[in-house]
Amino acid sequence: MGAGSWGTALAKLLADNQHKVLLYDRAQNTIDEINTQHSNLTKLPNSFLPETVKATTDLVEAVSFSDIIVISVPTKVIRGVLGEIAQVIKTPKLIVNTSKGLEPETHKRVSEVTNEEIPENLLKGFVALTGPSHAEEVIIGLPTLVCSASENIEDAKLIQTLFSNTSYFRVYTLTDLAGAELGGALKNIYAIASGMLDGIGYGDNARAALIARALVEMRKLAIALGAQEETLYGLTGLGDLVVTTSSRHSRNFQAGVKLTQGKNLNETINSIPMVVEGFRTTLAAYEAARELQIETPIIDAVYNVIYLRQEVQTVVKELMMRSLKDEFIPFKMTKEN
Ligand SMILES: NC(=O)c1ccc[n+]([C@@H]2O[C@H](COP(=O)([O-])OP(=O)(O)OC[C@H]3O[C@@H](n4cnc5c(N)ncnc54)[C@H](O)[C@@H]3O)[C@@H](O)[C@H]2O)c1
Repeated sequence: MGAGSWGTALAKLLADNQHKVLLYDRAQNTIDEINTQHSNLTKLPNSFLPETVKATTDLVEAVSFSDIIVISVPTKVIRGVLGEIAQVIKTPKLIVNTSKGLEPETHKRVSEVTNEEIPENLLKGFVALTGPSHAEEVIIGLPTLVCSASENIEDAKLIQTLFSNTSYFRVYTLTDLAGAELGGALKNIYAIASGMLDGIGYGDNARAALIARALVEMRKLAIALGAQEETLYGLTGLGDLVVTTSSRHSRNFQAGVKLTQGKNLNETINSIPMVVEGFRTTLAAYEAARELQIETPIIDAVYNVIYLRQEVQTVVKELMMRSLKDEFIPFKMTKEN
């Protein structure tokens, strides 16, 4: 579901692994390009697909074709897409989500949204496939390691086997589904922050500091929202945090850079497409942190730029002016740390 950059890269991976793949998207031109040219160059340079990969705009065809439904649409539309699937699904399916984000207002993870939208008797299981992975690298076969996370270890193992190969894609299993989903979602906020620092001309020192402090902040919030601590130091937490705060492939990073450019912040924000997952997740995480009374200075800074239209320089200055404190108290995290 979703023949964008990530859906296309995963379709190639699965076809390389000798599985049958049918891509679904609502964009007719994308589907036509895949079926006739065996490429999706508009979405992803270098995306040349095996001829076995087919594509359709027909949701009924896509759902009835599959034993396993892999979701790769922006989280903004996931509830709607799952609702559409629920209308046409006839037999139980395993759902694999690869999209990263939290729903504003409800603060829900995609697994929770899925449980609400797909009737229990038609949902065979739920797996989040997540970790440090840029489509641009997977499509050309560069080594990538991710996690198959599910509360049901058998489902996690099945997806591990289907997606892993010995040449470029290695999948670990994980049973901390909440931790995996939270790490994947929250890191996008820090990618925006990293882009903002880059945009105002800061260097490696600032980025390294951001990553370290982001991990402390992410740990506090994610644990309060149900994650297990060790998950945040693995591929789906620290791994994804590093790749997305350090790479120009990241759309969230690029959006952060853009926020520092242009004369009018309002215009700049309105010109950034909402597939930048971190925008919505910033709102969700900001609201969740306020509700839980957890101090999240970096999330607040990004929120202040995007939603209160404060200048990047101003919020960065405020971060530097926070009261001086210990880095952390070992083995005893405090909410204020
Ligand atoms: N791009 C990556 O490297 C990457 C890696 C890991 C995870 N992800 C996650 O995957 C998700 C998708 O990202 P992307 O980069 O592929 O985005 P994208 O913009 O390249 O693709 C999204 C696709 O979804 C389709 N779409 C949108 N609304 C739809 C609807 N209602 N019904 C059917 N199709 C619809 C669009 O037409 C588009 O083809 C995001 O949550 C992102 O965080 C992306």
